[in-house]
Amino acid sequence: MPLVPMKQLLDKAESGGYAVGAFNCNNMEIVQAIVEAAAAEKAPVIVQASQGAIKYAGIEYIVALTRLAAEQAPVPVALHLDHGTSFAQVMQCIARGFSSVMIDGSKYPLEENIALTKKVLEAARAVGVTVEAELGKIGGTEDDIFVSEKEANYTDPEEARYFVEKTAPDALAIAIGTAHGQYKGEPKLDQERLSLIRSLVKIPIVLHGSSGVPDDAITEAISRGVRKVNIDTNIREAFMGGVKRALAANADEIDPRKALGPAKAAMIEIVREKIRLFGSAGQA
Ligand code: G3H
Ligand code: 13P
Ligand code: ZN
Repeated sequence: MPLVPMKQLLDKAESGGYAVGAFNCNNMEIVQAIVEAAAAEKAPVIVQASQGAIKYAGIEYIVALTRLAAEQAPVPVALHLDHGTSFAQVMQCIARGFSSVMIDGSKYPLEENIALTKKVLEAARAVGVTVEAELGKIGGTEDDIFVSEKEANYTDPEEARYFVEKTAPDALAIAIGTAHGQYKGEPKLDQERLSLIRSLVKIPIVLHGSSGVPDDAITEAISRGVRKVNIDTNIREAFMGGVKRALAANADEIDPRKALGPAKAAMIEIVREKIRLFGSAGQA
């Protein structure tokens, strides 16, 4: 089926009390793995592209690959811009076919974040595209800017209420102790803060940096209002693990398909596991 707006998937997740997996893609094998895993689990799914993915593959390739995968899939697929950096970039993605965008104004002062988010919302709403905003700084590497885990500041609930009152985005990414990339220790999520924010904003909450977060913390966060869970690092690990195992078995292999085939199979496995964990299996 054609790409669907992410809002459609999040609204259904809201009434069903589960979360939709948002998985980062960078090439054909990753797009295929995400959508094939979703089809196998009969789950709605979000394919998303980061700044790095856009630099690596280009907007047109990402749209073409995901649109084709979605058209062939028996489950609904949304294509989402992850951590959009500017109004111009958001417009380029919408014009080329993304069905959802994130405008990440979290590095700006509050009022600037509000102004940018409102501008994006007005344009995106006019063409039925979903908008995710961000408040608070998620640790790790984001938009090519390194926010140390120490410095990362959590989302302030009162500020979140004010931000959503002024902007009314379709979903809000918050900082409650997760970080992008591999964790050094076990992350500890501020679940109370999540509940407080959710009671004040009443819109779907997005959890970034979810690779490496213990399963019970993820399910608890979903029970408290998280409706979109972002996974990138676990897919990278599965991909490269598959490639490394293939090369360890035959270091002289010259056929890339012999390494990329097992890499894709490993990615399908991890995406299926996450989909079941998020409660979205069988919800398509
Ligand atoms: O935003 C989080 C992504 O995991 C960063 O990925 O290196 O592809 O930009 P990137
Ligand atoms: P991880 O790489 O930690 O899974 O985070 C992904 C993410 O939040 C993308 O926006
Ligand atoms: Zn993120």
